[in-house]
Formats: sequence, C-alpha cells, structure tokens
Amino acid sequence: NVGNSTNILWHKCSVEKVDRQELLQQKGCVIWITGLSGSGKSTLACALCQGLHARGKLTYVLDGDNVRHGLNRDLSFKSEDRAENIRRIGEVAKLFADAGVICIACLISPYRKDRDACRDLLPEGAFIEVFMDVPLQICEARDPKGLYKLARAGKIKGFTGIDDPYEPPLNSEIVLQPNDGPGGSPKELAEIVISFLDKNG
Ligand code: PPS
Repeated sequence: NVGNSTNILWHKCSVEKVDRQELLQQKGCVIWITGLSGSGKSTLACALCQGLHARGKLTYVLDGDNVRHGLNRDLSFKSEDRAENIRRIGEVAKLFADAGVICIACLISPYRKDRDACRDLLPEGAFIEVFMDVPLQICEARDPKGLYKLARAGKIKGFTGIDDPYEPPLNSEIVLQPNDGPGGSPKELAEIVISFLDKNG
C-alpha cells in the first residue's frame, strides 16, 4: 500500500536520471528558498534563474504564489494547507530534479518539519536550502504588496510573522542576510548561490 492506494507497483523506464543528466550536462537538484513574505525569495529565484540560464543551465522556478494559481489553488493558508502546499511543491521539485533540471522552489514554507520532509525526498546533497534571513521589521517596512498593513489591521488573519509562526532553519546550506545597502543586490546574492553550486559540483 502507498498512501491511500492499494495494488500499485513502480514502473521503471530504461531512460534514467543519469541519461537525462548526461544529455543536459548538468545535475538535477532542488534549491529551496525559504523566508518571510517580502524577504526577497522570488526576486532571488528570478536572478538565480537568469544567472544559471546564462551559463547554459536548464532551470525551473516553482514560486509558492504562482503554484497557488494552479496545482495548489484548492489550498488556503491554514496550517494543514500550508503543510500540503509544501509537500506538493516538494514532490514536484523532486520530479524536476529527476528530470535533470535545477529546480528553484521559493515559498515561505514556514514549518521546519515540512521543509525537512522535502529535503528527505532528495538524495544527499541534491537539496540546497537557502534561508533569506531578513528580520520581520525589515520585511514589514518594505511591505511590497501591502499585506503586512492589512494583517496588522486584522484584515488578513494568520499572516506569517504576525499571527502565524515562521520557524527559521537551523542548518541551511546557505544563509543570506541581504540588506538594502551595497552587496545585497539580487544579482550578487544569486552569485553566492551559484558559487556554492560550482564548489559542490
Ligand atoms: S506557504 O506558507 O509556504 O504555504 O506560503 P506561499 O505558498 O509561499 O504563499 C505566500 C504568498 O501568499 C501571500 N499570502 C500570505 N502569506 C503569508 N500568510 C498569509 N496568511 C498569506 N495570505 C496571502 C503572500 O503574498 C505571500 O507571498 P510572498 O512572495 O511570500 O510575499
């Protein structure tokens, strides 16, 4: 039995991950960007995607906001639904990595247990967690979508960092502490991640 399914068997295909990686000349992996709303996850994902694309690497971005427009449109922001959002994106990211793609997932993913479960889906070294370590105060001051203001006014309930928890990672491969000053441009932050990928093969 697998989950709620019975009598299902794994079907193997003769073209495997190694063959796809050989074709693409790259290793499939998942770069998981976590952090508060307004911490710059999507901006980094985009810059990273551009940087890798320019180096001839095939990437795909799974942005929480975007996936909620389709696959995850049935999910709300209550904790069980956030957990399911993370689980589904983790599973889809794993499929992309298996296809040989560098998959960049950027979603708040506030719960440590759920992020770690996504890590456990991937082989050792193929899940790279990037923590956008930006304090709530700064995210709230930026408030790019005006959502913190609405949350403070009680117009959005269960907003991450205000009245819903964010559990910071304890062992991320990469911790970024961008500020709005020099050295923190999306391109520069993307270069930090790309050098990590280079160094770690
Ligand atoms: S989660 O927690 O991982 O399931 O969230 P995610 O799929 O990344 O979606 C976060 C974006 O949804 C908007 N939004 C909210 N965020 C947090 N809490 C509540 N209640 C909420 N309601 C809507 C918000 O624009 C988030 O976008 P980002 O890009 O993170 O700013």
